Order: sequence, then C-alpha cells, then structure tokens
Amino acid sequence: MNILILGSGGREHTLAWKLHQSPKLSKLVVAPGNAGTADIAKNIPVSVNDFEAIKTIVLAEDIQMVVVGPEDPLVNGVHDFFLNDDALKAIPVIGPQKAAAELEGSKEFAKKFMMRHGIPTAAYQSFTTDSLAEGFAFLETLKPPYVLKADGLAAGKGVLILDNLNDAKAELQTMLVDAKFGSASTTVVIEEFLAGIELSVFVLTDGDGYKVLPTAKDYKRIGEGDSGLNTGGMGAISPVPFADQGFMDKIHERIVVPTVEGLKKDNLPYKGFIFIGLIKVGEDPLVIEYNVRMGDPETEVVIPRIKNDLVEVFEAVANQQLSTVNLQLDERTATTVMLVSGGYPEAYEKDKAITGHNDIDDSLVFHAGTRLKDGEVVTNGGRVMAITSFGADFKQALKTSYQNIEKLHFDKMNYRKDIGFDL
Ligand code: AMP
Ligand code: GLY
Repeated sequence: MNILILGSGGREHTLAWKLHQSPKLSKLVVAPGNAGTADIAKNIPVSVNDFEAIKTIVLAEDIQMVVVGPEDPLVNGVHDFFLNDDALKAIPVIGPQKAAAELEGSKEFAKKFMMRHGIPTAAYQSFTTDSLAEGFAFLETLKPPYVLKADGLAAGKGVLILDNLNDAKAELQTMLVDAKFGSASTTVVIEEFLAGIELSVFVLTDGDGYKVLPTAKDYKRIGEGDSGLNTGGMGAISPVPFADQGFMDKIHERIVVPTVEGLKKDNLPYKGFIFIGLIKVGEDPLVIEYNVRMGDPETEVVIPRIKNDLVEVFEAVANQQLSTVNLQLDERTATTVMLVSGGYPEAYEKDKAITGHNDIDDSLVFHAGTRLKDGEVVTNGGRVMAITSFGADFKQALKTSYQNIEKLHFDKMNYRKDIGFDL
C-alpha cells in the first residue's frame, strides 16, 4: 500500500516510523515532513492546507490511503475534499470529516455535543459581542479562577485562566470586541474552573466500532514544576499511573461510549483518532476538550506501545472492520522528553546544527522541528526532537531518555528535567 501522511511534527515522524515497519507498506510519502521522515519516506514540500497540491501528490504518487496528522486540514475539510472529488473519493482518509472535526474546531460545538449526550464536563455559557453585558454578569456569578476560551482554533493559545474578576472582564472584552484571537474569538465560552489532575485518552473509531488506545499525560508548560508559558507539549508518559482499572471503567462508560454513540446519533462521520482531554476531579473524570487527531508529544508514547501492524489497523478503520482487530499493547511504560530551541515558546533561532542523534540506540529519536540543510540535520522549529524510551515504570523509562539526551547537542537546546514530577 502507498500511504501519504500530512504533517511535519514529532507526531507525524512517529506515525511514519510505525507504518514503515509494516510488510504491507510499499511507499510512504510525507507532506511536508521533516529530516526524520526524510530517512524513511519521501518528503514533498506542500502545505497541509493546500488541498489541490495534495491532490496532485496523491495522483502522481499513486497514493492509496491518507493519514492526517494535524487538526487544521481536518477542520478545513480535507476529508470532504476527497469525498467530493471523483478522482479521490475511493481513497480512504484517516481523520474525521469537517462536520465532526468541529468537535475541535469549535469549543461551543463540543460543549453542546457533551450536554446533548450527557458527557460530564464543566458548566459553561457562551457569549458574543452582542451579549457582552450578559458575559460580565455571568462572570460575576462564578468563583475565581475564571476560564475563558476562544471558540475557534487559536493554535493552542485560546484558553485564558484568570484569578481576578476585573481581569477576566477585560479579557472577555478584548477577545470579543478587539478580536484578540481574530475570528476564533467571535464567540467565547466561559466555563467553571475544574481543579484536578489532567490526562488524555485516545480512541480510534471507524464510525461504528472503536478501540481505546493507551492513556497519556503531557507536560504543557515550558518551565519545571509546570511553570511559565504554555507550549505544544514538553514531554509525555504512557500509561498514566493513576488511571487504574476502576477509573478507566468510569471513563469508558461515562465518556468513551457516549462520545462514539453521540457521533452516530448526530450523523457525524468519523474515521480517525479522538483525543479526549480529561481532568480527574475527586474520583471522577470530566472532559476538558476534544481534539480530532492524535496529540503531540502523546503520539510519541502511545503509538510505540501499540504492537499491531498500523497499516492493518488503518485498513480496518477504512473498511469499518475495526471491531475485528485485536489490539495488542506493550505493557511497559513509555516516556518522551521534548528538546526545544532556546527561547521557545517565544522567539527562537533556527538552523542550529544537531549532533549526536545517530549515536542513540536504546531510545527512539522522533524528529519534530528539523530539516536537512546541505545534508546536515538542523533545527527548524520550537520543538525539535522527542526522545522516547521504555521502562518497567516511568522513572526507569525517563532515566534512559535523560541519559541519551546527554549525547545530543544543538546551540541553546532546552528541555524539562522533571517530566512526571507530579505523579
Ligand atoms: P484546552 O485548550 O481546552 O485544552 O485548554 C487548555 C488548558 O487549559 C487545559 O489543558 C487545562 O489545563 C486548562 N483548562 C481548560 N479548561 C479548564 C477548566 N474548565 N478548568 C480548569 N482548567 C482548564
Ligand atoms: N499535546 C497536546 C496536543 O497535541 O494538543
């Protein structure tokens, strides 16, 4: 089978690495890819949102399946683009259609979905410029901290948590009236603050059956002890130690089943990954958000724990045969540590030469923001590489990752040395 992966991060390198192991794979193309995917696939430099250019690649490379990494093309309707094109409609796309991708594309849509299907989540109301005064009044009924969410996609920056009522009112006004997040904040969801520990559950569905994939916990803040600015993710652990069987049963019964059934009831066509961001409040799981793709860096710990042939699993998704798949998992813990450019998530420099990544044999090196320049691997983004290791528990796995990071170098390299500190 000839497969095209859309995307260029650590998530896409991990998917490429896994698909590359399948005897069923004939050709792997990644658009646009990175220096890591270039080693095992053919990179083609087109944007994930340039659907016409993607069509050209699919036809020229005789692609038989497309795996979508990031949310943007899904929310923009890449799957629908394929279904509406006579030359493309027979080619399966792993990733939901636009109507279902709204679960990530609109926080208000996701909240209404949860309410409709009785899925536990924080109480909320949503507001527009026309209802600014009602928004202020609603804030006054809440206790701090105040959670304000831009409705649309805001590159992971659209959630503000404020301790002070006046700051919350000012931010609500800036989001709605001054379009702080552009059209993404035309509507703002205000919700009850939930105090607890976060984890993520990943589900793969073919629109009928589903498989619950391993849990993971990511570390979003740049600084140790979860301090400083939010990033795309600085590291991850799978499985999550506190997600024991009893808690997983609650997640399954209260959240996973109603989500998959809700998609069916609402006629939302879904063949792909569902990423459910959860928070454990007391002993109960509540949903914080849905994403319509795998997480990054969660992919770097979840996918390596799946023993099945991923081409076979994706074929089963395409053919709506996922229920017949027997998912086999590696029982060990996987951890990943993200190496980032100095300055990230604010301004940082690119094109720094990376050394040592070829000297590592007991960890997996997944490239994120890297590219080839004159045959050398150089930095090309804020998040540069994820170093994934296995162990009997997360401490052992992390020890291996951290030992191997000692061998790696690029100018101003930064990483968190305390992944798992809260477990
Ligand atoms: P989201 O983009 O919805 O995942 O929100 C980003 C982050 O904000 C989450 O990972 C949480 O850490 C935090 N967050 C979002 N909603 C809430 C909430 N209702 N209560 C507490 N924290 C929240
Ligand atoms: N690591 C969080 C995300 O992929 O959204």
